[in-house]
Amino acid sequence: MMTPLLPLGRLDHYTLIVPDAAACSRFHMEVLGFGWVREQKVNAGSVPEGEYDMLNHVLHLPGDPSRTMVVTEGLTEDSIFRKYLDAHGPGIHHVAYAVDDLAEAFRKLEDAEIPLTSKRIAHDPMSGLRQAFISRDKTGYFIELIERTEEAEEGIFKSGNMAELAKSMKSYIGEEEPAATAPAAVVGELPVRLDEVRAFLSEPANLPRWTAHQTVYRGDDGRWVERRLAGDIPLDVSVEERRVSFAWEFAERPFQVHFDLEESEAGVRVTVPMPAGITTERATRTADAIESELVLLSDALGAKVEADKLDRARQTMGRFHLEVYSRKGA
Ligand SMILES: [Fe+2]
Repeated sequence: MMTPLLPLGRLDHYTLIVPDAAACSRFHMEVLGFGWVREQKVNAGSVPEGEYDMLNHVLHLPGDPSRTMVVTEGLTEDSIFRKYLDAHGPGIHHVAYAVDDLAEAFRKLEDAEIPLTSKRIAHDPMSGLRQAFISRDKTGYFIELIERTEEAEEGIFKSGNMAELAKSMKSYIGEEEPAATAPAAVVGELPVRLDEVRAFLSEPANLPRWTAHQTVYRGDDGRWVERRLAGDIPLDVSVEERRVSFAWEFAERPFQVHFDLEESEAGVRVTVPMPAGITTERATRTADAIESELVLLSDALGAKVEADKLDRARQTMGRFHLEVYSRKGA
């Protein structure tokens, strides 16, 4: 027998897209013996926060409560699921299989030039679920590969990973992925000398003066940590000639922010590239935070900053402080 490129684990769930989730799930229960699990509404990205554009009825397969079928209905005209339905008709949208090592599976598929819906593995920070989708070009439906972690509850779909899929589906209905609105980097000019900026950035004890990281302190072992509601997070600062980098690691996920420095007419140009692999939404908020940080940095270094600009930056930092303090991870 031929050894396949990608030996799959067990079938985990599959998803239908239909015009009427209630009618479709009723048929499966009454006629075919599927069991009811739950109803779930999701914001997959086409409606404002607090609203829903996707309805899921989650059923389990007859006689097998560990495997689910998800019946999806787009709730608005603009929903990607409604558009997909219009373009392709009702039926199976994707089938999900478990794999042991998603990163390895992803590499194998990329090496074999098998089209995937995204250039990276999606990672849902809420559930820990990692997933990737093989494009439907060869099969007429998407094949989802997932790596389940202990926290990731079976059959639960979080807004994050559905939004990711929704985004990648756009090319299949003739709509391109919307251009990311998040900036690739934040750039600021500070009217001070480069060595002053570098020295100030290099000192973790200064972080509370210019960032949302208000609870930074030095541990007994000499290592810097940031105290958060869920526990301390180690913090590393590394300094190069023209770059100061801050690195956190939490739940085995590294996170790094670089401040690139170059001499400019005004004094120093500081460029902060958005970290790779974060969502557009996250990048937008991170950019907001960094813009405010640069204002506070300017002020902390003795530069003249307009009062209302400074005020706004402080308010933004106040909001971010609470958010940073309460969250797990970077
Ligand atoms: Fe799925």
